[in-house]
Amino acid sequence: MSFATVIVGHGSRDAEAEAAFLQWMDLYRSLHPHRIFAHAFLELSPPFVGDVLREQATEADNIVVVPLSLLPAAHVKNDIPLALTALRRDFPQQNFTVTQPLGLHAALIQALQQQIKNEPDFDPKEWTLLVVGRGASDPDANGQLYQIARVLAESVGIRQLELGFIGITWPKVEDVLQRLARLKPKGVLMVPYLLFPGILATKIAQLFDTFLDQHPWISGARVRPLGVTAALCEAVEDRIAEARGSPRYALPCVTCQYRVPLGTLQEQVGGLKSLLWSLRHQATHQQGKPHQHAHAAMKKHILICTNHDCNSKGATVIAEQLQRDLRKKSLHRDFKVTRTSCLGRCGEGPTVAVYPDGIWYRNFQQDDVPTLVDEHLLKDRLLSERIDSIL
Ligand code: FES
Repeated sequence: MSFATVIVGHGSRDAEAEAAFLQWMDLYRSLHPHRIFAHAFLELSPPFVGDVLREQATEADNIVVVPLSLLPAAHVKNDIPLALTALRRDFPQQNFTVTQPLGLHAALIQALQQQIKNEPDFDPKEWTLLVVGRGASDPDANGQLYQIARVLAESVGIRQLELGFIGITWPKVEDVLQRLARLKPKGVLMVPYLLFPGILATKIAQLFDTFLDQHPWISGARVRPLGVTAALCEAVEDRIAEARGSPRYALPCVTCQYRVPLGTLQEQVGGLKSLLWSLRHQATHQQGKPHQHAHAAMKKHILICTNHDCNSKGATVIAEQLQRDLRKKSLHRDFKVTRTSCLGRCGEGPTVAVYPDGIWYRNFQQDDVPTLVDEHLLKDRLLSERIDSIL
């Protein structure tokens, strides 16, 4: 079954923006030399999306359409589905899949962090972060930028955050800059949340530079749009994997502070530290050799609450079945099951906790036992629908 990826950009009359898009396409192709790629635009510059998809449909069975859009704006929600309606009618044998837009992705946050790190004067304790987006008529897209800006701010350890838009919606970046002038921050770091350089990026940069010229007592720095970066390829690959039903992680871990080092957030207790603790714990065991253990070190410890409330919902039966299944598969030395008294989650049970992973499951059922063994204990793939909390 042949498989083609069609990357759909917005399209621009700006030569710099188009050149950057094509340069990024070259980078992406070079990372996956054996795959079939095509690019298309929604408007303003050819080749247009309908034509490219039609061409691909005559050659490939599976076509994945990637809207190269940072946020889920109206174009993504309307134009691509419209184009596909006609194509699905004309090519009923072909399978068309559309990915989500890029949205919040750790690789993109990390790419910006890298740029911010290189700003010599930037002081997260004293400066304000100003994130500027292009603006949309869709509150979903605008709202997602607030989420992204907040994650970026927390991950660079900055406590003052402002957000503005260059067009279409409020607050306009000019108004935000005026407000900032009244607040008199020591410095402002401006991040244009855009894919590539071009007219919008230039306009935002000019507005910001004028602001700094008019307020020489405020320090300032600005970073570039994301641009031609491997981080963008990584984010696109994740969106494709999700759309094709084979995501990299069972949970949306690419935005998870517990799994992805997001700048200052990795300092937090319970974040990356808990993972490091697990690694250190295992390493300590290895370094301690050749001391003799009376038993081999276990891999995971499963706690099952068999106190009154959980027990009334079958916790003891679950514990017995888990022990039986582990024994049948000769896994009982690797995975220890302990029945506990109340774990403080009465009403949510049966409660099952797995350590050192720090995963707590709620409303755990007897039918979940085989999945717990085969997926979580053996492959570290979590039972996402049962997760109560991750410590
Ligand atoms: S009885 Fe199980 S959590 Fe309280």
